[in-house]
Amino acid sequence: MPPFARVAARARVFALTASAASVLLLVGSATIVPAAAARVRRLPAADTLREPPVLRNLSSVPGVVEVELTAAPARLRLVPGGPLVSGYAYNGTVPGPTLDVHEGDSVIVHFHNELPEPTTVHWHGLHLPAADDGSPLRPVAPGTSYEYTFRIPYGYAGTYWYHPHPDGRSAFQVAMGLFGAIIIRAAHDPLAALGIPEKLLILSDNRFDSHGAISFPDPRSIQEDIDLENGREGNVLFVNGQVMPTIRIRPGEVQRWRIVNASASRVYRLSLPGQRLEWVGTDGGLFAHPVAVDDLLLANSGRVEVLVRGPPAPGGRTLLQDLPYDRYMPQTRPADWDSTRSLLSLSVTNGLAERPVRIPSLLRYIAPLDTTHVAAHRVIVLSQGMIDGRQMDPHRVDIHARLGTTEIWEIQNVVGMDHPFHLHGFHFQVLDRDGVPEPFPSWNDLVNVPKHSSIRIVVHFDEFPGKWMYHCHILDHEDEGMMGILQLE
Ligand code: C2O
Ligand code: CU
Ligand code: CU
Repeated sequence: MPPFARVAARARVFALTASAASVLLLVGSATIVPAAAARVRRLPAADTLREPPVLRNLSSVPGVVEVELTAAPARLRLVPGGPLVSGYAYNGTVPGPTLDVHEGDSVIVHFHNELPEPTTVHWHGLHLPAADDGSPLRPVAPGTSYEYTFRIPYGYAGTYWYHPHPDGRSAFQVAMGLFGAIIIRAAHDPLAALGIPEKLLILSDNRFDSHGAISFPDPRSIQEDIDLENGREGNVLFVNGQVMPTIRIRPGEVQRWRIVNASASRVYRLSLPGQRLEWVGTDGGLFAHPVAVDDLLLANSGRVEVLVRGPPAPGGRTLLQDLPYDRYMPQTRPADWDSTRSLLSLSVTNGLAERPVRIPSLLRYIAPLDTTHVAAHRVIVLSQGMIDGRQMDPHRVDIHARLGTTEIWEIQNVVGMDHPFHLHGFHFQVLDRDGVPEPFPSWNDLVNVPKHSSIRIVVHFDEFPGKWMYHCHILDHEDEGMMGILQLE
């Protein structure tokens, strides 16, 4: 696997803001230098966390982003110090390269399937024509190519991701290494304007056999039944394909972390002991206002943006943790479900404290979707492996809806495990959870529906006729048919 390239421009901005801040501080606080220097700890010179390379734009036309993306078998060193094993990769890296674009851009992806099986590239969360959504209805045969073309609408700045979505094989292909991030940038981003440095954290997990190969259960084994029930979880947790990488932070420095849950079924309850996280965004970008939380739940395929602060004392270390969260049926709940896992280590440098950054209390305006004219109220029932009591049939349409209308869906989970519900192509707002009104509107394409609970969402179908998927994003459930088809006309 080729080493990840750093994003040169981003690193430059980071260096600039960091040195400008220390110059400012040196004037009044030179006396604390010896004290800090006396406690020098050995720290890595830079983050050990690396970010995936950014897909190179082959176009010189302003506003056009044209990239090459190839899915192919690869020999990968997935575990540090481990053997080279067989997997799949986008452009040879796991995670795949990041699609980094701006609102208003026209995107052309020359995609080549060099896998021995059909695949698709699904642009999870993007608002685009149905034909280019990469749904299971549009497989790309092995040895062939497809040109995905779409425009990035305004208002959609945020963190997204792409992954394969072939009929019945999504969990397998993602486990083999196919997933990558998408960042959509706004021309005016209130946090970027403050010079707040950014990190991208793609969370994934995997399971390996005693030879280090990616392991899947034997067909008809008990483990296979458990994996179908829970979704396949791995015991090795990765951030950007690395195990326990380190991020450096200066005392008082504020960093913006864009976090993607690319795991097939693992739900993360993220916490940084010793500080509250400033939660500033979700699937569809920034909230209106930051929210301080002790921990936050990130269901699979969801994204969050958080602001993290460097603790005041230099030289310390904290861990980004995944706290226990019981999403399981009691019968198949893993024995170690209640253990806390560490994802990465945050090392506080010995440098001087940063000048504190004032986080704006208004990040952007988000109007609640208008619910005075609702074309349809629907109830969608999630049970084990099924939606509304049936499994997906590519030749059946489950919901007919009209372009230009607004609908309210009540998603009822009638079984004893969580099912994260995802709608393709359209962002929705959560109205209430078990009747409790959502405190503020935000844009989402994923909502975790906890066991025996019910959530109401509102969605507006502004454009893009065609067939759209909605499904549980535990990929094993989706592959088994826990998916329906919405036809917009
Ligand atoms: Cu992440 Cu059907 O999608
Ligand atoms: Cu999707
Ligand atoms: Cu499910």
